[in-house]
Amino acid sequence: MLSRQNKLTGLAAGAIGAVLLVAAAGYGNYRSAQSQLRDKVEAMTGGHVESGRRAFSAYGCGSCHSISGVGGASGLVGPPLTGIGGRAIIGGKLENKPDNLQRWIMDPQAITPGTAMPRLGVEPQAARDLSAFLYMQS
Ligand code: HEC
Repeated sequence: MLSRQNKLTGLAAGAIGAVLLVAAAGYGNYRSAQSQLRDKVEAMTGGHVESGRRAFSAYGCGSCHSISGVGGASGLVGPPLTGIGGRAIIGGKLENKPDNLQRWIMDPQAITPGTAMPRLGVEPQAARDLSAFLYMQS
């Protein structure tokens, strides 16, 4: 025979189960939204997000730029790069689109002579990877 307490425990376990299911579905939606965004930015830029993440660290971009949620990206010399995909203009003068972002990353001095961002010798494929990575940072 079920005691009242057992019934309540059963109800509570059911409720917790339901909450976990909803949370798992939410996480699943988040994951699939992220992977759709990744496919989109990779198609748009011709780069690979994960290679871009490694390049961002290898070139030391994070010593001058912050990105929330990216370890080591806490520099305050240049503008924060969180949400860069939503900005209209980059480098103060270029329309924000993949080829302009890649041009900027490869040679900011050619676009704005004397700007504080140095030419770091980034190769074209690395610039594509970096632009894919940056467009993922919302
Ligand atoms: C020595 C510091 C420094 C380093 C290293 C550096 N940047 Fe910058 N970056 C800047 C500064 C300063 C600006 C702003 C320049 C301007 O607007 O004239 C800038 C601007 C930018 C912009 C345009 C942002 C906007 O909103 O206008 C992007 C994108 C960018 N940097 C990406 C990178 C990437 C990717 C790397 C690594 C490959 C990198 N930066 C390395 C200093 C740096």
